[in-house]
Amino acid sequence: MARTPLVAGNWKMYKTEAQAEEFIQALLPRVSSLDGADLAICVPFTDLRAMVDSSRGSPVEVFAQNMHYEPEGPFTGEISAPMLGELDVRGVVLGHSERRQLFGETDKALALKVPAALDAGLVPILCVGETEEERDGEETERKLRHQINEDLAGVPAARLAEVVVAYEPIWAIGTGRVAEGEQAQEAIAFIRALVSGRDEAAGESLRILYGGSVKPDNAAELLALPDVDGALVGGASLDPASFAEIAAAASR
Ligand code: PGA
Repeated sequence: MARTPLVAGNWKMYKTEAQAEEFIQALLPRVSSLDGADLAICVPFTDLRAMVDSSRGSPVEVFAQNMHYEPEGPFTGEISAPMLGELDVRGVVLGHSERRQLFGETDKALALKVPAALDAGLVPILCVGETEEERDGEETERKLRHQINEDLAGVPAARLAEVVVAYEPIWAIGTGRVAEGEQAQEAIAFIRALVSGRDEAAGESLRILYGGSVKPDNAAELLALPDVDGALVGGASLDPASFAEIAAAASR
């Protein structure tokens, strides 16, 4: 079954609106003829409106990097799914390991956030992955099973295929230490099997990305793995030329 690859750039807390504008003007001509892959940038809240406006009619979709699960309420400093939807934002990254580790994001909150995103018409990119300690202790599958089961518990089987999962081994994020092809394939096939266990068809069609030190020189190899349906790219997505190169590797 053919799954359209998705290459998503995760900017994290980089780029002011002016810098974002400079980036998109440099990126668009490089990806205008992109075929056979979806392309997204996950940007800071303050860049959303400008990036949605500047990328209209192009192959680039704009995602946020977090949201609250309630549609509104007394939650100072938070942003809701309907607020993102009204800006024509296409989706949202949920459960990135930096949010889990540095900002106390819990599986319990994610179990509410993923369905709230879907209900608002947003595509959730749910991030999962093990620490170095967990991998060394052969705890990778236990961790992934726990995160997938908990975080997707509130998503009805009929909507599971609309979720995008990003497998990001924490030891590979921002370290330059990319997972070996075999490790990435194994973990991603395991995640697919978990989803298939809930719904066979969803397991077949759900997209699972690899993330963690994806660069132009290793993208082609990672993207060619049978269960890898794209990449979540941090550092290398900040430069339009290197991001466009990774996108081109996915569209081949
Ligand atoms: P990296 O980040 O590509 O810089 O390793 C990936 C991520 O955090 O999504």
